[in-house]
Amino acid sequence: MHSILIVEDNWETQLLIASILKENGYQTFLIDDGRKVISKFNSCKPDIILLDIQLPGEDGISILKKLKEIDQNVIIIMISGTRGTKNIVETIKLGAYDYVRKPFDQDELLLTIERALKTQELNQQVNDLKRKLHFKKNNIVIGNSPQIRRILNQVDLIAPTNMSVIIQGDSGTGKEVFANLIYKKSLRENRPFIALDCGAIPDTLVESELFGHEKGAFTGAISSKAGKFEEANGGTLLLDEITNMPILGQAKLLRVLEEKQTTRIGGRNARKVDFRVIATSNKDFLFEISQGNFREDLYHRLNEFQISLPSLSERKDDIPLFAQEFLNNAKSRYNKKISGFNSEAMKIFLDYHWPGNVREMKNVINRAVVTTDSNVIQAQQLSIQRQDDLPINEFHPQIDKSNSLKTMLKKYETDIIQNTIEMTNGNKTKAAKILDVNIRTLHRKMK
Ligand SMILES: Nc1ncnc2c1ncn2[C@@H]1O[C@H](COP(=O)(O)OP(=O)(O)O)[C@@H](O)[C@H]1O
Ligand SMILES: [Mg+2]
Repeated sequence: MHSILIVEDNWETQLLIASILKENGYQTFLIDDGRKVISKFNSCKPDIILLDIQLPGEDGISILKKLKEIDQNVIIIMISGTRGTKNIVETIKLGAYDYVRKPFDQDELLLTIERALKTQELNQQVNDLKRKLHFKKNNIVIGNSPQIRRILNQVDLIAPTNMSVIIQGDSGTGKEVFANLIYKKSLRENRPFIALDCGAIPDTLVESELFGHEKGAFTGAISSKAGKFEEANGGTLLLDEITNMPILGQAKLLRVLEEKQTTRIGGRNARKVDFRVIATSNKDFLFEISQGNFREDLYHRLNEFQISLPSLSERKDDIPLFAQEFLNNAKSRYNKKISGFNSEAMKIFLDYHWPGNVREMKNVINRAVVTTDSNVIQAQQLSIQRQDDLPINEFHPQIDKSNSLKTMLKKYETDIIQNTIEMTNGNKTKAAKILDVNIRTLHRKMK
């Protein structure tokens, strides 16, 4: 329901307006003294103000000026007596939306109010769109922690070069965000940006995806199709989660990078291609190489520059920034009026270890915004599992007199590692992070 504040000293007019508005489904607040307007406005936050020009206490024009100072977008419709046309012009200049003249016509009053509400709605939409556009255009990368500031500096340095870049970081740390930022800041900004999800291509389709094919090259090739290398020509190719690429694909990729040319399956001529490569991975390249899952030569070819994104729990300074930005986005997406988080919720944000990193935080906030009915997001509305709920803290070392300290410690260590790996559902990278050990150390200890 829309609410309207009526400021009018003639009680007959006041009651008449109020009854018309109520009948038409508006909520009304009444005031007859100019000096009370500001405090009433602040307490009831009406959608529209109907403001008499001549009032006792303080006149309409001076109140109008004050209201506009408090809120530039507030919609004010002036009520004017029969005389005073000159004043009306002045109020419009000062930002009043429109006016109605006494004695007024019921339909005219309602129409003016409807139009005003419509304008207000449109203004809001325009503002939302502008904000979204701004976000897209500037590709806002949030972060003011020393780690992120350092990475942003590195990005500024390498973006305009043609260097191949590896972005390493756990899932949800923003690898794609940074890959995109490098592209946006590069000299290839107006050329194609082609992303290839390396884990998502089935083995049988790798070649056709990467190289494309000519019509009739194989059964099912009903038309010719350009491959990703060709599409990326002149631009940037993002090889997302490259350690998930099958070994066969890795060999082919390396050849293209070295020869700078590509041939469609079933095609006769090689095409020259030139693209910049950005490769991401949530795995440890050296470990993958040691396991025979990733080609060392390809790694060295890609590794002209490396960016390593810290997990969210390693850059707590950024947590309040993310919280604010994700809240703002979710608010406008789901049309909610929420002013912020209570301090307990913020404390959970800062204490939680965020195994899913920034992506998890975004999801948690989206869910909280959708499900909350209150003005402020409370701790109970956050659907996250707190670290102190996790089984890792329920540890009691067994003291066994027949054993040396060393044996007991070893046993204790084994238990901790086993429990942590169970807790992370077998994700060793996460387990290593929680235990704060290198993944290679973890693997060694597991053996
Ligand atoms: N620094 C950042 N600023 C703004 N949004 C971010 C940032 N880092 C991550 N995000 C958001 O978090 C989510 C996960 O980021 P993404 O780049 O897909 O992570 P990754 O590829 O490392 O798994 C996305 O919704 C992304 O918009
Ligand atoms: Mg990703």
